[in-house]
Amino acid sequence: MPETAEPGVAAAARVYDYLLGGTHNYVVDREVAAQMLRAFPMAAVGARYNRELLRRMVQYLIGAGVRQFLDLGSGIPTVGNVHQIAQAEVPAARVVYVDYDAEAVELGRELLAGNEFATALRADLRDPDSVLRAPEVRELLDFSQPVAVLMISVLHFVPDDAEAVRVVRRYLEPLAPGSYLALSHLAPAEGRTGALQQETRRVYNETVAEKLAIRDRAQIGEFFAGLELIEPGLVPLPDWRPEDPDYVPDEEDAPRQVGLCAVGRLPG
Ligand SMILES: C[S@@+](CC[C@H](N)C(=O)[O-])C[C@H]1O[C@@H](n2cnc3c(N)ncnc32)[C@H](O)[C@@H]1O
Repeated sequence: MPETAEPGVAAAARVYDYLLGGTHNYVVDREVAAQMLRAFPMAAVGARYNRELLRRMVQYLIGAGVRQFLDLGSGIPTVGNVHQIAQAEVPAARVVYVDYDAEAVELGRELLAGNEFATALRADLRDPDSVLRAPEVRELLDFSQPVAVLMISVLHFVPDDAEAVRVVRRYLEPLAPGSYLALSHLAPAEGRTGALQQETRRVYNETVAEKLAIRDRAQIGEFFAGLELIEPGLVPLPDWRPEDPDYVPDEEDAPRQVGLCAVGRLPG
């Protein structure tokens, strides 16, 4: 797992923090972010759209009656974290943050001090059994009631396709009917060459601790097998339940080319 004491290598959590305008990053992370922005200028806008999407998804889930969240690959706490969005509506909403980045978890714990309904766990999400057995998860989440598993902008850091599918399945196994999976994922711009994303992947794979997998619509759709997709289905990030009632999808809109996202519900 990445250690804070090793700033010689960039880390996904800190590169993302920098792209969002945060301060928890090092020179090495900023250099990678600069390279990424040269290859993929919409990366910073994409990160902000992703964060906006997270807020809309959590608000939707709270509106749908969900009171428990397992946020996998939660990142360095920044503006609009899941517990802040959820607990603004329902103060007793429960949130377990999981990240393998030491700094993300340490900062998360500081932010959550005194919050009895939210906690941060340092773990590798590719080991679902350890996460699901962790005392933080068992004590805070009641698996007889619906839980929303959030995998927002994280599964592309699990480059092995079979492992990514297996990991998602395992998290869904113990969930009660009416639970949800909410996910966003880097995807090639549909109807385009995807050359920009390939370049981003090259920069990332050469410089950041995590390797990057960009998956297409069919591969991302596979994560939702057996789930009912909530309207509007698997769509570019800005198209998922936009707040602006006059929103019209625009093929040329750069943030629409960053990735795909969906929310699925376990039937029952
Ligand atoms: C791009 S950030 C996304 C943060 C947040 N979910 C969001 O959308 O705003 C990805 C996060 O996933 C974490 N991550 C990547 N691979 C992971 C793994 N195998 N286990 C746990 N965390 C992981 C990184 O440390 C980073 O904090």
